Amino acid sequence: MVRVFYRGLKFDVSPGVYEPAEDTFLIADNLKIRAGERVLDLGTGCGILGILGALQDGKVTATDINPAAIECAKQNATHHKVADRMKFEVGDLFEPVKGEEFDLIVFNPPYLPRSGVLDGDPTGLSCEGGADGRLLIDRFLDEFSRYLSFRGRILLVHSSFSDPQKTLRKLSAQDFCVEVVERPLFFERLVLFRASKKDLI
Ligand SMILES: C[S@@+](CC[C@H](N)C(=O)[O-])C[C@H]1O[C@@H](n2cnc3c(N)ncnc32)[C@H](O)[C@@H]1O
Repeated sequence: MVRVFYRGLKFDVSPGVYEPAEDTFLIADNLKIRAGERVLDLGTGCGILGILGALQDGKVTATDINPAAIECAKQNATHHKVADRMKFEVGDLFEPVKGEEFDLIVFNPPYLPRSGVLDGDPTGLSCEGGADGRLLIDRFLDEFSRYLSFRGRILLVHSSFSDPQKTLRKLSAQDFCVEVVERPLFFERLVLFRASKKDLI
């Protein structure tokens, strides 16, 4: 079990679950929720982003394809006394929330181009996004708008290695207005996309 702290809050991370890192913290630093907003934390890992949303009085659904991640997220939510304000579902991408709508969707997907087993990712679920890193990013971009409310917005992060221009093109093609926040990280940049419908800006 690894223990991670963010702004003085403690999160336990079980074996096989993604340990929150700079990409997580880039979303976390930009996570602002109005009370009562419906938030979907896709690929929740240890639950950190969903829990930060629930601590801001969001109504959070946290999903992950990895059952160990959902167990870990539940335990952290209980520790932070927000488990009763959160729903937890195991499943592939939007499959567990079919027919639902959210005001904010946050996603820190596996986004690195395939390179064999990475340190700290023995299941291969947390970091690798197929040959070009975009497997989950593109699936997300093709589907997310069906799950957004009228005024809904997204926070999506990925690496400069996984073609941020393609993400921008896909969001613009769907009439989304995008703000980009970049953070340098060793040889790459982390890129955060904050997007909402153009005609609402
Ligand atoms: C980079 S980790 C992010 C974890 C956490 N949100 C964070 O920021 O620390 C990616 C997460 O997505 C999950 N994941 C991978 N493929 C998925 C899929 N098809 N559907 C749902 N979750 C998936 C992984 O199990 C992992 O927990």
